[in-house]
Amino acid sequence: MADINRIPLTELLFFIDVSMIKILTIAGARPQFIKAATVSRKLRANPRIKEILLHTGQHYDQNMSDIFFRQLDIPEPDYNLGIGSGSHAVQTGGMLQGIEQILFTEKPDVTLVYGDTNSTLAGALASVKLHIPVAHVEAGLRSFNRTMPEEINRIVTDRIADLLFAPTLTAIENLEREGLSPITRFSGDVMYDSVRFYQQRILRDQEKFHIPGVPDTYLLATIHRAENTDVPENLIRIFSAFERLPFDIVLPLHPRTRKILSGVIQIPSRVHLIEPVGYLEMLSLTMGSVKVLTDSGGLQKEAYFLGKPCITLRTETEWIETLHDRWNIITGTDPDQIIRAVNETLPETPQKSGFGNGNAADIIEKELLTIK
Ligand code: UD1
Ligand code: UDP
Repeated sequence: MADINRIPLTELLFFIDVSMIKILTIAGARPQFIKAATVSRKLRANPRIKEILLHTGQHYDQNMSDIFFRQLDIPEPDYNLGIGSGSHAVQTGGMLQGIEQILFTEKPDVTLVYGDTNSTLAGALASVKLHIPVAHVEAGLRSFNRTMPEEINRIVTDRIADLLFAPTLTAIENLEREGLSPITRFSGDVMYDSVRFYQQRILRDQEKFHIPGVPDTYLLATIHRAENTDVPENLIRIFSAFERLPFDIVLPLHPRTRKILSGVIQIPSRVHLIEPVGYLEMLSLTMGSVKVLTDSGGLQKEAYFLGKPCITLRTETEWIETLHDRWNIITGTDPDQIIRAVNETLPETPQKSGFGNGNAADIIEKELLTIK
């Protein structure tokens, strides 16, 4: 028989307290590490919660993965599936198999998934098939563009999940239209929590997060969305706009884009390609920029939270709250529209609230405790 004095306290609590809850967090891509960092910090401070962290390995470069664990104090993952890159089916299928094995071993009370990547879909699907409840953070986002892989991941995940955390009222409305109101909770946006948490730290220690070689005045850009990287004409149009802009442009390059760009496009001299940076360096780059040009979901919001006008290099956005007073302008890849948007005067009205009160992680923690 086990010696009770040798059982760790958390295990003992599990043994004697049925209200203990075991949460399996699944993350695999850059923005998920950033979102999970904020929520995990809360979960792990609660003695009633035991969190197990599973990294699918979807992102694996040091500056797409490890850097976030170190910088944001995310605990070492309990499991790393090391799935890596591949087609949608190869990547998602590999994750399903790996996640299922861990679900058999860990038997969590709930699986927690984030956003809209293949890791999100695989986590939700593997769990629900084993009758393990799924909670989805950043639920209800819709672009209404079914050619986006992320849109399919979101729709399926929301449909099969048991608890949906909506970051905005638009997300609430989308879920209501799909008949999902009974399982929807308004949490606010964990990325808003995160920006509030780290902004002061960056302001206190600006030198530390400064990237050498970055000019004093610049636009900040990122490009990684499949609809841009996989269509050479779109990349050519974006870079021809960059060439005509009267600014330096700092572009931390996603590895997907780097691989596609090489040899295809002549990089204009005022475009400074840099390696992907850590989250705090990225917030610092955003805070120091004139405007932001991006096809990223997360960066559109961070620009808005940090008071930087954004030009979205897509034909639609899920984050329609950011569009008021032209804080965020949708240009697609049309060079003339991009240039006009960059040259526009600054918005006259301040940003509105609409992403919660900066306590999304608290709301998520409390709701998760009700699942058992
Ligand atoms: C994925 C998500 C996207 C999210 C983005 C965040 C899906 C379908 N897409 O897109 O929603 O916005 O993450 O950044 O899940 N690569 C490396 N090293 C890495 C990671 C990727 O070299 O560490 C390269 C590989 O060539 C890979 C390509 O990037 O094939 C694409 O990676 P993948 O994870 O499939 O999709 P992302 O474009 O990163
Ligand atoms: N980001 C980062 N380093 C970079 C580029 C982006 O830390 O070099 C952060 C960015 O600040 C935001 C998140 O990554 O918090 C957005 O991730 P990404 O654009 O890869 O994915 P999306 O949000 O579009 O799913």
